[in-house]
Amino acid sequence: MIISAPTDYRKAAKAKLPPFLFDYIDGGSYGEHTLRKNTEDLANIALKQRVLNNMSELDLSTEIFGEKMALPIALAPVGLTGMYARRGEVQAAKAADNKGLPFIMSTVSVCPIEEVTPAIKRPMWFQLYVLKDRGFMKNVLERAKAAGVTTLVFTVDMPVPGARYRDMHSGMSGANAATRRIFQSMLHPQWAFDVGVFGKPHDLGNISTYRGEPTKLEDYIGWLGENFDPSISWADIEWVREFWDGPMVIKGILDQQDAKDAVSFGADGIVVSNHGGRQLDGVLSSVKALPKIADAVKGDLKIFADSGIRSGLDVVRMLALGADCTLLGRSYIYALAAQGQKGVENLLSIYEKEMQIAMVLTGAKCINDLTYDSLANM
Ligand code: FNR
Ligand code: LAC
Repeated sequence: MIISAPTDYRKAAKAKLPPFLFDYIDGGSYGEHTLRKNTEDLANIALKQRVLNNMSELDLSTEIFGEKMALPIALAPVGLTGMYARRGEVQAAKAADNKGLPFIMSTVSVCPIEEVTPAIKRPMWFQLYVLKDRGFMKNVLERAKAAGVTTLVFTVDMPVPGARYRDMHSGMSGANAATRRIFQSMLHPQWAFDVGVFGKPHDLGNISTYRGEPTKLEDYIGWLGENFDPSISWADIEWVREFWDGPMVIKGILDQQDAKDAVSFGADGIVVSNHGGRQLDGVLSSVKALPKIADAVKGDLKIFADSGIRSGLDVVRMLALGADCTLLGRSYIYALAAQGQKGVENLLSIYEKEMQIAMVLTGAKCINDLTYDSLANM
């Protein structure tokens, strides 16, 4: 399969992964309307072409929380990454490290914090979910600190998992799921050996390290529903703020008032995100929610944006609409599933080239030059 565009990796990942994993990554909630709108609304943002500005020198770098980044991109937290490629979190983190970008580890990663941080030079960022067992929160934050994690990303849009009907059809959850997964794995032998056999232990590494026993992955979706805490509130943000003295970013903001509250509760950043269309279907796409939020809080904290980014052009669009930085979710996960660390590095090089072309042709010499003025329809 020839890979030239970032979206080619989706096809390659589909061919390689058993369907229960591909659909878990690829799918959204309910009718997947928000999932589709995330990409469609981005594609409909028209860039403004400007010419004859001597664009021979470009600077795509930025600095966030005192950390230099080669591009305004971080790898989003994605659960179960070690099931898509062998010890996938380590491979993704190394790719981000080599490209000068942060890797954000999910709470529900396969590899634990302690397996990933020694493999990279940059500090890792860590994403926190609140489990009903609050002892876990304290434990994992202490371990993150000890491992040199700098930035905490606190995800708040998953008090309950969204209704993911694709997972029930695919065998990720639902009737006879375990048997269906075995058959699917037998039909994908390359994955079955590389990850299924040699990628063990298949576990939620951060949680089993805390509990001192393996977490069973047989019913992962059921596990999320049972263990995630619907009682989370701003009081938890206050608790974390007291406990965590490094930068804290609240992920899953779509509303201006919530963004303003994040500022008053001492957040250093927010991620404008609808969780890649995996939570409440029917909410605004991130790109549609972003401008109002940026008008409300730009400059008070760092604004990250994700959901639907599939190219360097989309990164440019999010920045022009007020984001300081973007997160890639599925886009990098497809590359990781298809070609591991090498795939993610190649994907990031493609993003860089696409951003360069877009900046040359919109007349933006550095990322701060990307503003509403870079867009044709604002
Ligand atoms: C996610 N996302 C996510 N977010 C988070 O805070 N913690 C997590 O564990 C996960 N897990 C997860 C698994 C999978 C398979 C996907 C696709 C996504 C959401 C993720 O961080 C990000 O917000 C979205 O992926 C962004 O949308 P795109 O780029 O995938 O369209
Ligand atoms: C998901 C969770 C784990 O989106 O964030 O599947």
